Amino acid sequence: MCGIVGIVGQQPVSDRLIGALKGLEYRGYDSAGVATIIEGALHRRRAEGKLVNLERRLKEEPLSGNVGIGHTRWATHGASTERNAHPHFSDGVAVVHNGIIENFTELKDELAADGAEFQTDTDTEVVGHLLTRYRREGMRPQEATRAMLKRVKGAYALAILFEDEPSTITAARNGPPLAIGHGDGEMFLGSDAIALAPFTNEITYLIDGDWAVVGNSGAHIFDIDGHPVERPRHISTAAADLANKGNHRHFMEKEIYEQPEVIAHALRHYINIIDSRDMVPGIDFAKVPSLAISACGTAYFAGLIGKYWFERYARLTVEIDVASEFRYREIPLPPQSAALVISQSGETADTLASLRYCKERGLKIGAIVNACESTIAREADTVFPILAGPEIGVASTKAFTCQLAVLAALAIGAARARGTVPEDELQALVRSLAELPRVMGHVLESIQPEIEFLSRELSKCRDVLYLGRGTSFPLAMEGALKLKEISYIHAEGYAAGELKHGPIALIDENMPVIVIAPHDRLFDKTVSNMQEVAARGGRIILITDEKGAAVSKLETMHTLVLPVVDEIIAPMIFSLPMQLLAYHTALFMGTDVDQPRNLAKSVTVE
Ligand code: AGP
Repeated sequence: MCGIVGIVGQQPVSDRLIGALKGLEYRGYDSAGVATIIEGALHRRRAEGKLVNLERRLKEEPLSGNVGIGHTRWATHGASTERNAHPHFSDGVAVVHNGIIENFTELKDELAADGAEFQTDTDTEVVGHLLTRYRREGMRPQEATRAMLKRVKGAYALAILFEDEPSTITAARNGPPLAIGHGDGEMFLGSDAIALAPFTNEITYLIDGDWAVVGNSGAHIFDIDGHPVERPRHISTAAADLANKGNHRHFMEKEIYEQPEVIAHALRHYINIIDSRDMVPGIDFAKVPSLAISACGTAYFAGLIGKYWFERYARLTVEIDVASEFRYREIPLPPQSAALVISQSGETADTLASLRYCKERGLKIGAIVNACESTIAREADTVFPILAGPEIGVASTKAFTCQLAVLAALAIGAARARGTVPEDELQALVRSLAELPRVMGHVLESIQPEIEFLSRELSKCRDVLYLGRGTSFPLAMEGALKLKEISYIHAEGYAAGELKHGPIALIDENMPVIVIAPHDRLFDKTVSNMQEVAARGGRIILITDEKGAAVSKLETMHTLVLPVVDEIIAPMIFSLPMQLLAYHTALFMGTDVDQPRNLAKSVTVE
């Protein structure tokens, strides 16, 4: 998952390429580079690490040129060095690429045997050498592009400069997203509409197999066979959504504290469903025999919690798996079933593959997404927006709790459609959901001092274990993910009942055990698990509510007490200390909270 941009301008473009790349740094930041054509010759500047290093390089060695391409990289093949940074050059051609060329090894061998000299360890470089070969055989750039696209296999969003076509950029898409921006006498290319928001809100999305020649008066789009095609022009709202940190130190902190507001916004959107005025649009839950859910990472943990709700309230069997496994299991999915795919970015390659797998089998697809102009949103039968606003921090926070709020609303709608819960009980669930923003705000205001104390302790540890039962089990896994992905401390989330089947061997005074235990029907069993930990010298951080704190007589390292809430909003409330513990521990560790090492916000490669 890299970010690519291109500008066919009427004035020097390098500064605007950098500006556009800043909107794409969430997609990867191992290295960056730009290339332009100056008086018929290709020039480039590249730098290892974050975009700020490339900016510094351009200040030292400015780059003119009114047509250019740029790239910010998340390394798939080849170390994160300047040598492997895009744009890649071969004779007369410059290329930036997001994706993976799956047959690059055989192509590289073939091209090297023909005398091509490879400068990098990347898969992308074969694209440029193929184009150079076809140009040397006398093909015009468009013919060379078509010939190259017939040879490469895999996922790509490409932007290409041909030295002898100085007023155009050639683009191609198969898998990772690519958008064309329409300006006034200028044209733009970008991995998403956010990157182009500073220049235009008129966006055309290429679809898989499309390629295009972009000049300053417009774009000519072709299908894989070279036939001209038309693609619709959208007015994007991304410009209005451009985020800023406000008075927060990091986007992640801002997004954690935005949750009461964005959850309220999301719930208002679903009020007609949860208040029985409307059925769930697009999926008739009364008729579906089962439900499939697929997602990755934090979105998957949201789906796991949603599974408990659909099964408990709507009496609907849920088949769920991480998207990277889902399509390879060959699950016997009844065609009348429905599928929910959950994705903040709407561009996660594995989740998109799950969507397509279910669609090919006749399932009705609902997409729970934040980015409503994304590929997943466009390919689903019905979209359930989470309305969290742009989530810039790589570690997902407000998107997670908004996904949970939407899943709760859909589970209530499904229960009503299937008549599995009496209306008065449904109304009680609705009232609890309505309370959620207020309770979240109260908790966020009250727990910070304890969190900072606990985070200081966690920052001294090498390993942390999170335990939970019921919907607190996926939350334990989410809490562990939050901690490990931004503080780099190893953490695992486990079903509390599973402790005695192995993980208990890990227990000692060096590994804190964070137990997530609202006082629900599983609380007493979780207390037993805590006693198993305490009996072996383990240090427990108990996260419970006033009822749980009142009855638990256990000696703990610390007990964090939250308000007593209904089970349907407990996961959203108990996720707040998970998020803040990870955030403050990362602050103590001095890691890059918003852009943790090796990660990217949207994983558009499988
Ligand atoms: C969450 O903190 C991670 N950044 C990651 O697990 C993320 O949830 C996952 O990559 C899925 O992304 P998506 O929701 O955009 O599909």
